Amino acid sequence: MKDQILTKFRSLFGKEGQLYMSSGRINLIGEHTDYNGGYVFPGAINFGIMAAIEPNGTNKARVFSLDFNDYVEFGFTEEDKPEQHWPRYIFGVCMETLKRGGKVQGFDAVFAGNVPLGAGLSSSAALESVFAYAINEINGNGIEKFELAKIGQSTEHNYCGVKCGIMDQFASLFGKEGSLIRLDCKTGEYKYFPFHPKGYKLVLLDTCVKHLLADSAYNKRRESCERAAAAIRANHPEVEFLSDAKRLWLDEVRDQISQEDFIRAEYVIGEVQRVLDVCDALERGDYETVGEMMYQTHFGLSRLYEVSCEELDFLNKLARKCEVTGSRVMGGGFGGCTINLVKNELYESFINKAVQEFTLKFGHAPKIYNVVISDGARKL
Ligand code: GLA
Repeated sequence: MKDQILTKFRSLFGKEGQLYMSSGRINLIGEHTDYNGGYVFPGAINFGIMAAIEPNGTNKARVFSLDFNDYVEFGFTEEDKPEQHWPRYIFGVCMETLKRGGKVQGFDAVFAGNVPLGAGLSSSAALESVFAYAINEINGNGIEKFELAKIGQSTEHNYCGVKCGIMDQFASLFGKEGSLIRLDCKTGEYKYFPFHPKGYKLVLLDTCVKHLLADSAYNKRRESCERAAAAIRANHPEVEFLSDAKRLWLDEVRDQISQEDFIRAEYVIGEVQRVLDVCDALERGDYETVGEMMYQTHFGLSRLYEVSCEELDFLNKLARKCEVTGSRVMGGGFGGCTINLVKNELYESFINKAVQEFTLKFGHAPKIYNVVISDGARKL
């Protein structure tokens, strides 16, 4: 990937580019909690996006995507917003950097990646983060890393139509080899937890389905949570986010909100606590509890938050049948992957069975990703 990028950069722009890299992410537990001010527990992975980038002395970006085999140029005013989808992530990062008082001089770039698209591994956050990081460096802006994550998040909100939380961009920027990171999305406090589950493997099974309208369904989930939080706030003014609410407080407003908003909020309040429980269990080396929490999360995401689908539920059930320690849908949902914590000795038989039975039922095999927890954004 590196050589291809550098060669293309040379042939397009007739000079050398500086290389930057950022990563996709997994999340062990804490799903749909970030925009509710709760905890998440992600880590960066060994799938990422790499970019060669160099100022070009103009006031335009000239960018080539190797994966889409597509080239765009854009300036840095709102009117310059690219028509295609992929450059909007980069354009958005430039605009959000400017909004924060950063400088964005024209640049040339070539990039490529190996984060599977639409699999819930945050390829878009990796793209935003690598450019946010590189643009910050080549312009000497000195914007802090947490603010760079917010630049990526605001890019999603303002230029891509997804009202996401901060988890993906945070993980992509702050990732550290061998560690998961517990982030308190309300305060921004975070803590690294070494993650070397001895005797276990972490494996992702990609259903290869991506449901249409996933973005609008995601935004609707967020609105449900905000309505529930607002109702609770009327009784308990200290509730800024849904994650601040006690389960009992939700019960108090049961008649004032829709059944749908109620079950969405019920899931979130439970999930925030599960992240803390998983962190405690990890510190004790108690992987059985970690795994059990993962199954509970899957149940919640499937039945209460309703962001699972037939293919994901099928893989989750199969994992249970194969005595996999923990398994659940990962990321935003509506397709994508399950994340599985599986004992080494069960790994082979689980994967074989999953491929066989899934193919029989759905006519295509799931993809298997063995992830390694890796470093986040950096200059190479
Ligand atoms: C997507 C969003 C994140 C987060 C997850 C669900 O990945 O980008 O902010 O909300 O879904 O946990």
